[in-house]
Amino acid sequence: AQDLTVLGLESSCDDTAAAVVRRGAGGRGTILSDVVLRQDALHAAFGGVVPEIAARAHAEKIDLAVRQALAEAGLALRDCDAIAVTAGPGLIGGVLAGVMCAKGLAAASGLPLIGVNHLAGHALTPRLTDGLAFPYLMLLVSGGHCQFLRVEGPDAFTRLGGTIDDAPGEAFDKVARLLALPQPGGPAVEACAMTAEAPLRLPRPLLDRPGCDMSFSGLKTAVLRARDAAVSNHGGLPRAVRANICAGFQDAVRDVLAEKSRRALARAPVTAFAVAGGVAANGVLRAALRDVARAAGVPFVAPPLALCTDNAAMIAWAGAERLVLGHRDDLTLAARPRWPL
Ligand code: KG4
Ligand code: ZN
Repeated sequence: AQDLTVLGLESSCDDTAAAVVRRGAGGRGTILSDVVLRQDALHAAFGGVVPEIAARAHAEKIDLAVRQALAEAGLALRDCDAIAVTAGPGLIGGVLAGVMCAKGLAAASGLPLIGVNHLAGHALTPRLTDGLAFPYLMLLVSGGHCQFLRVEGPDAFTRLGGTIDDAPGEAFDKVARLLALPQPGGPAVEACAMTAEAPLRLPRPLLDRPGCDMSFSGLKTAVLRARDAAVSNHGGLPRAVRANICAGFQDAVRDVLAEKSRRALARAPVTAFAVAGGVAANGVLRAALRDVARAAGVPFVAPPLALCTDNAAMIAWAGAERLVLGHRDDLTLAARPRWPL
């Protein structure tokens, strides 16, 4: 294969992103630019992403993101070999904004168009950052996703298990809300847990059941009960009690993720254990997962945080991997709000 330069677009949630990535003939990836225009401020007042607001902001900002990504890479569109875009899964309005923009660029330039599954983008990131060889195990843990994937090829994923209800990030965010901590909840809960002296003992859901499925919504209910008990005992939520609840919750998530990771690694040999998603930023969880990898005798790989959370470099890279396989789409490419791997 020759050198490939791919422009990537991502707009499936609340970040409008564009990036240019080069895939060398030997398969090495280089990020030439990586632009993420965040929408946090637009949604902050609503306590979550508002789909209509997100869609409008994507439509307004996607051209700017593309121009910026090309400028930072020092390239014109005609210097690229393909345009890759997230075609799902995600919020339909945002995905449509990206797909329509990519189609316009492809039609105007004559470059090939490649639709990328957002989850495949996350799952292939360790090949861009660390050159991992197939097959490897990927744990994707974010505000919206939680699943174990055995990544066997750019287009070959086996789902080994995942959450049957909330994603862990969603649980962290809800727990923060219950305890009057700021959003996003993950970093707030992690910081609060650091001061705990006697972490509360909470249940470890689904650990007694075989397989790699997980459940996190019961933990949130356990936290609600602990909070209400503290409020009725103390007439409020003392700092120390709040810290113990946070630490108890985090320990339970840690133990569930660690045990299920152990099982996923025992299923079949892999070259490495990789994590991605915003929750992978958590130091306590990361340390536990690193230990699991060490015990299984495989390297632990956690891409830099900016590439673990939503970005377009991963979409450009996944597009390059698809292009090498000869995959490409045409102007009939559809936006798919639901699109399992
Ligand atoms: O991957 P991401 O940026 O967005 C998507 O969900 O797509 O992940 C965001 C999630 C939020 O729920 C946030 O609370 C969580 O990642 N998160 C954390 C930490 N930092 C971010 N969860 C636990 N501990 C953290 N340090
Ligand atoms: Zn994502």
